[in-house]
Amino acid sequence: MREGTAPLIQRLDYQQPAFWIRKVDLSFDLDPAKTIVTSKMQVERNRAVPHGPLRLHGEELNLLRALINGAGVSFRQEGHELVIDNPPDEDFALEIRNTICPEKNTALSGLYTSGGSFFTQCEAEGFRRITYFLDRPDVMAVYTVTLRADATKYPVLLSNGNLVDSGTLEEPGNKGRHFAVWHDPFPKPSYLFAVVAGDLVAREQRVRTRAGKDHLLQVYVRRGDLEKTEHAMNSLIASIVWDEARFGLPLDLERFMVVGVSDFNMGAMENKGLNIFNTAALLASPATATDADFARIESIVAHEYFHNWTGNRVTCRDWFQLSLKEGLTVFRDQEFSMDMAGSSSARAVCRIQDVRQLRALQFPEDSGAMAHPVRPDSYSEINNFYTATVYEKGSEVVRMYQTLVGRKGFEAGMKLYFERHDGQAVTCDDFAQAIADANPGSALATRLDTFKRWYSQAGTPRVKAHGEHDAATRTYTLRLTQHTPATPGQPTKLPQVIPVVMGLLDRHGAALALNAAGDTETVLVLDQAEQTFVFENIDAEPVPSLLRGFSAPVVLDDGLSDAALLVLMRHDSDAFNRWEAGQRLALNRILAALRAGQPLVLSNAFIEAMRGVLNHPELDAAFKELALTLPGESYIAEQLDVVDPQAIHAAVMAAQRQLASALRDDWTAAFEANQIAGGYTPDPVSSGKRALANLALSMLVLDAQATGDTVWPGKAYQRFKDASNMTDRLGALAALVNAGAELAQPALERFHALFKDDALVIDKWFALQARAPESDGRVFARAKTLTKHADFTLKNPNRARSLLASLCMFNPAAFHRADAAGYVFWAEQVLAVDAINPQLASRIARAMDRWSVLAEPYRSAAREAVARVAAKPDLSTDVREIVERALA
Ligand code: ARG
Ligand code: ZN
Repeated sequence: MREGTAPLIQRLDYQQPAFWIRKVDLSFDLDPAKTIVTSKMQVERNRAVPHGPLRLHGEELNLLRALINGAGVSFRQEGHELVIDNPPDEDFALEIRNTICPEKNTALSGLYTSGGSFFTQCEAEGFRRITYFLDRPDVMAVYTVTLRADATKYPVLLSNGNLVDSGTLEEPGNKGRHFAVWHDPFPKPSYLFAVVAGDLVAREQRVRTRAGKDHLLQVYVRRGDLEKTEHAMNSLIASIVWDEARFGLPLDLERFMVVGVSDFNMGAMENKGLNIFNTAALLASPATATDADFARIESIVAHEYFHNWTGNRVTCRDWFQLSLKEGLTVFRDQEFSMDMAGSSSARAVCRIQDVRQLRALQFPEDSGAMAHPVRPDSYSEINNFYTATVYEKGSEVVRMYQTLVGRKGFEAGMKLYFERHDGQAVTCDDFAQAIADANPGSALATRLDTFKRWYSQAGTPRVKAHGEHDAATRTYTLRLTQHTPATPGQPTKLPQVIPVVMGLLDRHGAALALNAAGDTETVLVLDQAEQTFVFENIDAEPVPSLLRGFSAPVVLDDGLSDAALLVLMRHDSDAFNRWEAGQRLALNRILAALRAGQPLVLSNAFIEAMRGVLNHPELDAAFKELALTLPGESYIAEQLDVVDPQAIHAAVMAAQRQLASALRDDWTAAFEANQIAGGYTPDPVSSGKRALANLALSMLVLDAQATGDTVWPGKAYQRFKDASNMTDRLGALAALVNAGAELAQPALERFHALFKDDALVIDKWFALQARAPESDGRVFARAKTLTKHADFTLKNPNRARSLLASLCMFNPAAFHRADAAGYVFWAEQVLAVDAINPQLASRIARAMDRWSVLAEPYRSAAREAVARVAAKPDLSTDVREIVERALA
């Protein structure tokens, strides 16, 4: 949408629609330059709301005619609405015919072309770019869709539901064209509508579910990509099995289709029975995809499949409720990934990765200009609220329900939720009520209203813990306090319900009994600003292990000494907290150096602890890799009131060089011990080994750069050349590039030549260069040059992100420059992208969310760049909302 001023939509203004659309017959005469859309709707007045005109949404449409009950009707256009002032009181048939231009639709919302095929993206408000409609999720209709297109160019014609008819068109004007008719028996909101037409091929699999029903699963891709769909198909089958086993939720369609498209604004979309995926989230082969890609594909395939129940069967009443489906579905895909990982240590690795992601993306969002509650209160462009807060923090909120009522209790709550709301468009309150009602008397049900503050208050709560041991009474008193900082529009906050899963260790690391029953782990429920918890029969000062498994999305300050952290790191029964203790040790050092303005020197105790982890005979490689990876620069920035990205980068690099040098022999041993013989499989054990070997290699090459040794860079280059899978190849390439080794350049050239025809791999090539650790401005200069590369384009979102987001959002030291060149670059690129694709532009615009905490000279220069963008008169509403919030 592009308009001078966009209205602010408020959550509390929600009203039911004045009309319902119960049935839609849609037909498409597909043509890239001019597609004709005919929509025949069965409309009825909603008697529950005051009498009013019929207002249909529509954007960038060319209206040909509007008929009511077969006769012409008078209408007027008001902004993006088509208003029919006096529709009949009784149910009526409304017919709209309009044309659209898919090939000019570079915004990739609505119906567009990509690689010569047609695709749709309708969430959140793309359907109105196809035809006039009540394009809001509480209007649910049964769709029948007829597609007509050239049979040679578009042999495959797909829409939601079941194929009911197909054939060739015989009439004279339709030479060479064919048709297909699809019917979806489930009433659905317009955002779940989808069409695909093109020259595609499918991997197919028939499955029989527990209920004994047969289903056809299909994964459609371009010719040539078929061999890269096996992993997606396996992931889909695993998802179907898991949802039936864990939540009793079966596949409800005879046919379930997944389609890949190269030009796509996000990861994937859960259209009913016809999920559409960014190829980056779908295609994988050992030679072209990394272990991380395999894992991400598995979780996104699962995510979209799980939406079939949490999103489609039960959908959102309005877009403020987005987390109702997204937070819940992320929670479900995270649980699925953990269950798939298997061993308890592999589960912990999943959890650590999810938390790392939350801290790197959601925490900064929650403390920046765009901070908003999990259920936002207002927006001017809903696409700006598909955020880490709605998705990832939303998932943590769902996880807290499960922590408070237990796994069985949560499953009972889900069952009640579907019994009550199947087929409805509902709210976050409805979900909360169902979980509470299924668990009367639980820690949730008794404080439901307080718990629901997680939906209304933005900001990450800070929890402080202070323990005191009394030797005379043999008691340990733990005092917990909480405070949530102010966020835009929310100056004061109330206490939240914070489940703190915890245990106590003695100073040798043995778990202590917390009560007479002998439990060594319990859940403390903090729901006041301050509370104390008393433990009896504690002989000596214990070490508290708090917030195990990251039981709430908060920042914890437990004030533990390095000695106590070392006890936790070595002995805690909770693997997450073992990892966390090591991160805290590193973080404390880095923060102390930054605050003192001193060069960072790692302590011997820390280095020896890290050596202990690296050489540990029992720990998994995947865990070791996570433990030996230092906290990220954006997470470090979150701990500081004034952020100097260059100082943070210098401190992290210094820590890395010291770890590289002090553990040189241990890295060598780890590299050698984690080689895998035999074929590639992306299972957690092998991928953990590859991750650790890659980390070791990058440390060894980094250290070689410092000492002038040429052996390890040479080995890395050899490994890069000989690698039999993308994880090893990219790992070796990254080791060379990140260390600034001379062999990086020939390796980059070779990599490009090898994969020049594989767009997803070339994306990695751009991203790796734009994310490399900055040194003397070389990375920024290279990234700028890469915008002129023949393979670079702003039109493909994956490609644009691989360079622009990598540099502006994930490489703070390259981006935040004293000469402001990074900000100038950002402003140019945001404006250039905005003219093509507002959703993509507004994602990149968010690189400036946190300008106000920057140290000078960055702060002033950043603000100026944001103000320059905001001064442009014809910004999209997407970008306008982001820059205006940044300046507010
Ligand atoms: N519902 C999709 C998903 O979670 C994402 C859609 C994003 N839409 C958007 N306009 N940003 O998987
Ligand atoms: Zn989703």
